[in-house]
Amino acid sequence: MMREAKLRTSPAAVVDNLNSTPDTVPRHVDCIVGARPNFVKIAPIIRALREQNGLAVRLIHTGQHYDVTMNAVFFEELDIPCADINLEVGSGTGTEQTARIMLGLEPVLRAGRPDLVLVVGDVNSTMAAALVAAKLNIPIAHVEAGLRSFDRAMPEEINRLVTDRLADLLFVTERHGIDNLIKEGLHPERVKFVGNVMIDTVCACLDRAVPARKTLSEVGANADFINAAMKTGFGFVTLHRPSNVDDPVKLKSLVEALVDVARKICLVFPLHPRTRAKMVNAGLDRLCGESGIVTTPPLSYLHALGLMREAKLAITDSGGVQEETTALGVPCLTVRDNTERPSTVEEGTNLLVGTSPAALMPAVEDIIATGGKTGRIPALWDGKAAIRIAQDVCAFLNVEHAYARSIRHRLETGPLESSPCA
Ligand code: UD1
Repeated sequence: MMREAKLRTSPAAVVDNLNSTPDTVPRHVDCIVGARPNFVKIAPIIRALREQNGLAVRLIHTGQHYDVTMNAVFFEELDIPCADINLEVGSGTGTEQTARIMLGLEPVLRAGRPDLVLVVGDVNSTMAAALVAAKLNIPIAHVEAGLRSFDRAMPEEINRLVTDRLADLLFVTERHGIDNLIKEGLHPERVKFVGNVMIDTVCACLDRAVPARKTLSEVGANADFINAAMKTGFGFVTLHRPSNVDDPVKLKSLVEALVDVARKICLVFPLHPRTRAKMVNAGLDRLCGESGIVTTPPLSYLHALGLMREAKLAITDSGGVQEETTALGVPCLTVRDNTERPSTVEEGTNLLVGTSPAALMPAVEDIIATGGKTGRIPALWDGKAAIRIAQDVCAFLNVEHAYARSIRHRLETGPLESSPCA
């Protein structure tokens, strides 16, 4: 109770409070995850935070994603420790999910009383956890802060706006994020430009990525498809945003555009459960099969990374794929009118083609003819973002010890060997 009364939302007050805590007491950090892209982001962060003694770190899973292919396989491949607590909220509308996460998380945070709650990304679990922490007066760190599509029809945009407003530490992946947060009136002292933890995971996993040929054979692609894909190249496709897949008419026109594209280049299309359900309802899965597009269940991280690395191009509406293809130097066509990750367009290999199916074919033909857009890797996408985050978390929580010094040493050495920048 004493402690609760002492914690206030102003960062200076929080730091004062922590400064008065003896150094021997470990600071407690609760990391919250819920959905597939969260797992890719949390893996390097958990590693970096747990590598030292001054922090006690718990992992709390909301259960937003629960299928083995969307969840367990990522924990295994990315070596994420088992969650300490799983709220098992499951599926529902955004509001239902948010409400269930809030109800489940409140008693957990009330009992555990962490010194910091760390949330990643922009999914419903991110915002719900930030709301609960804020209501309990627990400081919040948000990893991937400041990204804005300026499109409030996207559920993620609402999640980003709310989470950033409530966060005490805002970890930014690209410079635009800093500008957005400052324009929104957030205090510059709270904003930390650390780079991109998605790219930390790319760097950590490239050596283990599954070769495309092996994946294609595992998913049952026939020999002709595999030979053609290996010889003339293939496109890697993902679509799952409600705005692209929920309306059957829109989805049909996009799938028909993919069928056209597949006449020029082999396509591999892992289906998100949402997309699969909508395609099955509309009979579009059969259309894909007949046209030679290879559809697969959701792929593991190492399988997806291997396909992306070898692809001639990607067609996607995913935020993560836009970033990963920029890091890998693979041309990416984003089937959206906007992106909250403008560095991937300005500096990287990403091109926004919009959601009109007619725009897809000319963009694909251009890549086939010219090799597509080349780019450079944005600043601090160097495989060390999680180390910077751990350093800032330690500073915020006043954890000054050998580890903080060892992190500094690692930051001062060159890029990691497997970094796309190396
Ligand atoms: C969520 C995120 C999105 C992220 C995506 C990655 C929000 C608002 N959206 O969208 O930003 O890019 O995750 O996948 O949080 N389902 C399963 N098994 C699962 C999980 C979901 O079958 O393990 C099905 C359910 O039918 C569910 C649907 O997929 O209704 C959508 O899942 P949901 O968690 O609501 O959002 P995503 O579309 O996955």
